[in-house]
Amino acid sequence: MANTMLLAVFALLQVMCFLSTSPVHGVSAAAGSCHASGYVHGKETRCPKGSPDCCVVGKSYPRFRCSPPVSAKTPAILTLKVFDNGEDGGPTSCDMRFHRNTELVVALSSGWLRLDGGARRRCNGRIRVAAAANGRSVVARVVDECDSVNGCREEDGYSPPCRNNVVGGSPAVWKKLGLNESVGEFEVTWSDV
Ligand SMILES: *[C@@H]1O[C@H](CO)[C@@H](O)[C@H](O)[C@H]1NC(C)=O
Repeated sequence: MANTMLLAVFALLQVMCFLSTSPVHGVSAAAGSCHASGYVHGKETRCPKGSPDCCVVGKSYPRFRCSPPVSAKTPAILTLKVFDNGEDGGPTSCDMRFHRNTELVVALSSGWLRLDGGARRRCNGRIRVAAAANGRSVVARVVDECDSVNGCREEDGYSPPCRNNVVGGSPAVWKKLGLNESVGEFEVTWSDV
């Protein structure tokens, strides 16, 4: 009897261990049925000066056509994105414009921008972004894609594909949320407005 109990406890522990270790960082951090659809490979070495995150030659980076499931509080990573006509790429993919740092605008990972959650394109729609750190929130317009499919090419600035769970916020979004831009990334949740 004691042996059976012990075995049962042992089996349970193994299952718990498996469950807690399987969703690791990176590729499998994408929840649900969203898996990497392939990989891009770092080939070039012409990294723009001052760029912090260029593809490394010989390294592979996952590409995602999907993003994690959307809910009323979808967890995401907030990054800083500048939408003016400086060195950070061309006009936005939703309204083909540039945006001042004072505008409340965001980019979404490819899966979230496009078809995720019932064939609803989010371009030019509004989302509410809430910071996990302080509970503050802001409504911003979706104007661009954080491309989770392509990367490491000249037109990508030799940067890897975007992760599939990113909200790229303008400086105004960061300011409204009261977050320190120097920290680089924060946990947030977002929802459609
Ligand atoms: C912002 O973050 C940076 C880096 O962590 C830190 O050095 C700086 O003191 C912070 N600024 C404020 C105003 O908290």
